[in-house]
Amino acid sequence: MELINEERTNELLQSQTHVWNHIFNFINSMTLKCAVQLGIPDAIHKHGKPMTLSELVSSLPIHPSKTQYVHRIMRILVHSGFFSQQNLNGGPNQEAYFLSQSGRLLLRDNPLSMRPLLLMVLDPALTKPWDCLSTWFQDDEVTAFSVAHEKTVWEYAGLDPRFNNLVNDAMASDSILTSKLVVSKCKGIFDGVNSLVDVGGGIGTMAKAISEAFPHIDCTVFDLLHVVSDLQGSKNLKYAGGDMFEAVPPADALLLKGILHNWSDEDCVKILKRCKQAITRKGEQKAGKVIIIGMVRGNQNGGEESIETQLFLDLQMMVLATGMERNEKEWAKLFVDAGFLNYKIHPVLGTRALIELHP
Ligand SMILES: C[S@@+](CC[C@H](N)C(=O)[O-])C[C@H]1O[C@@H](n2cnc3c(N)ncnc32)[C@H](O)[C@@H]1O
Repeated sequence: MELINEERTNELLQSQTHVWNHIFNFINSMTLKCAVQLGIPDAIHKHGKPMTLSELVSSLPIHPSKTQYVHRIMRILVHSGFFSQQNLNGGPNQEAYFLSQSGRLLLRDNPLSMRPLLLMVLDPALTKPWDCLSTWFQDDEVTAFSVAHEKTVWEYAGLDPRFNNLVNDAMASDSILTSKLVVSKCKGIFDGVNSLVDVGGGIGTMAKAISEAFPHIDCTVFDLLHVVSDLQGSKNLKYAGGDMFEAVPPADALLLKGILHNWSDEDCVKILKRCKQAITRKGEQKAGKVIIIGMVRGNQNGGEESIETQLFLDLQMMVLATGMERNEKEWAKLFVDAGFLNYKIHPVLGTRALIELHP
């Protein structure tokens, strides 16, 4: 066996820990999912003050034989920053838990809750494709999702109402903060816009916020039939079913939020061309436009952690669909290929940005 000196041993042991932590990284996601499914964040929030372990245990829907394990789940979630711990009066066993800012984003009733996104991303239907990733690399299937399920993610959603709801709820929850920021920070982009179509707009969270903030804009949520067929519009909001690769309803502004990262460059150019054709006012001073909300890979406006977020989402798009997260140069190429003359990036949405696109 190779003789190794002290320095090299320490390095090796550190590397071993690094490998362990990457092997076991899924435990961070899965314990978070378990805590959310058991309602731990909600129980602590409802308690209204720091909650001791015994108070927590007695509030949870768990079998009596499992009470002894709760503190171990809590220990890792304190470590990963979802809960904090405080000693109530210095006594033993008087440690009490409270929610951190990230923990509050997992509450069922928080309007900005990321709980639906967590439940979608960690659903077995979306984790199974990760098990098929190396198989996908070796065969000619389009996505790892289709290796796992023999259909595209949108076909699967069309056939399985449970999964369809999971996706629609996750997407809707993702739009709440973004829609508030768009209507408050980006008011100017709606100047001169009298009609808007949210292309692939899901169940309409984004379009609803725009229709309420700008009552003079006629908004249409355009998505696949299985997403919009049961939905009712209101005053200046309506729903339309269809396929964006075939035609997009006409409007002054076409919105694409979280759409283009699902698709290959070739498909994005097709979608953008359809949107360009759908713009009603061309060549005027206040001409129509396409508004894109998505990531510009490489930007650090969302803070240091956002680089990892961008890498994660880029691979999520590769595994589930045929898309990717694009840097500015890659975005610009799509715009030129689809025949647009200029674009402006508004970096006002943290990790994501709003891109205004003119024909
Ligand atoms: C990632 S979700 C984004 C939803 C919404 N824009 C948001 O950000 O919350 C992608 C949406 O595109 C829709 N979609 C997929 N293929 C489509 C097609 N060919 N035509 C219209 N919509 C489509 C899906 O049904 C889904 O609602």
